[in-house]
Amino acid sequence: MQITGKTKIVGVIGDPIEHSRSPQMHNAAFAELGLNYVYVPFHISPGALPAAIEGFKAINVVGLNVTIPHKQAVIPFLDEISRDAELFGAVNTLTFQNGQIKGDNTDGLGFLEGMRETGFELTRGESALVIGAGGSARAVIVALTSIGLETIFVANRTTSKAIKLAEDLSDAIGTSIHGIGLDDPQLADIVDSVALVVNTASVGMDISRPPLIHTEWLRPQTAVYDIVYTPPETRLLLEAAERGCHTIQGLGMLVHQGAIAFEKWTKTAPPVKTMKQVLQQSLH
Ligand code: ATR
Repeated sequence: MQITGKTKIVGVIGDPIEHSRSPQMHNAAFAELGLNYVYVPFHISPGALPAAIEGFKAINVVGLNVTIPHKQAVIPFLDEISRDAELFGAVNTLTFQNGQIKGDNTDGLGFLEGMRETGFELTRGESALVIGAGGSARAVIVALTSIGLETIFVANRTTSKAIKLAEDLSDAIGTSIHGIGLDDPQLADIVDSVALVVNTASVGMDISRPPLIHTEWLRPQTAVYDIVYTPPETRLLLEAAERGCHTIQGLGMLVHQGAIAFEKWTKTAPPVKTMKQVLQQSLH
């Protein structure tokens, strides 16, 4: 990569930021397309956020990804917010233009694209089960409602959080969403009835721990998506594959949420294949 007087700056803000794989993914994409951009990780502590935003405006940064702990904290600095970001209550992408900042959230579309690229399509009237009730579950549920599903179930260790999330989103969107506990006796029947099961709980990272649902409940016709991508093949996915289920790794969502941001900033179609290869290499 050659930095010149015309190089445009994009990047990611977070605290910590050292673990981020986005710089490798985006810089490889710029190199492949010969775009004169550089993607830089910025370690911004919570107290430094207001000054950092002013600074980014002053130096004409083109766009930023936003990660923990700033996904909600950046909202007051925006001039415009997308509907997805508003519904998720979190922003992961900023675009700077003419001194104005637009906030977006590409996780939902990234989730759907990650699913479609494996050849799996959900159709209107089907149902899905989402495990976990944190910020990622919220984004996944909002994305799923855009397909026109009949019912979405949210199952969580802390039942009250599942019920609250389901109520919040049912009110905002109008789809039928039900929150239950992971220990609810109905869970076996729900797993048996849905077309898709999605895990959003970070506990999937630990391969020595059993998945949060009993995988014997899965039918081979059910697709299983784990948005956890370290390891790429989680224990839930391994067990689901053994039962003959179509499985979807979280890596696709990670690539696509980045690719959608890339396109917003550069107005150029992203080289998704290269971006995925770079991420795969960085995870091994
Ligand atoms: P994010 O915003 O990335 O989704 P989060 O808000 O920390 O992350 O949510 C993590 C989810 O994983 C929660 O639904 C959490 O369940 P609780 O609400 O009961 O805490 C779930 N989770 C984390 N560790 C878990 C565990 N050991 N067993 C079951 N669920 C777990």
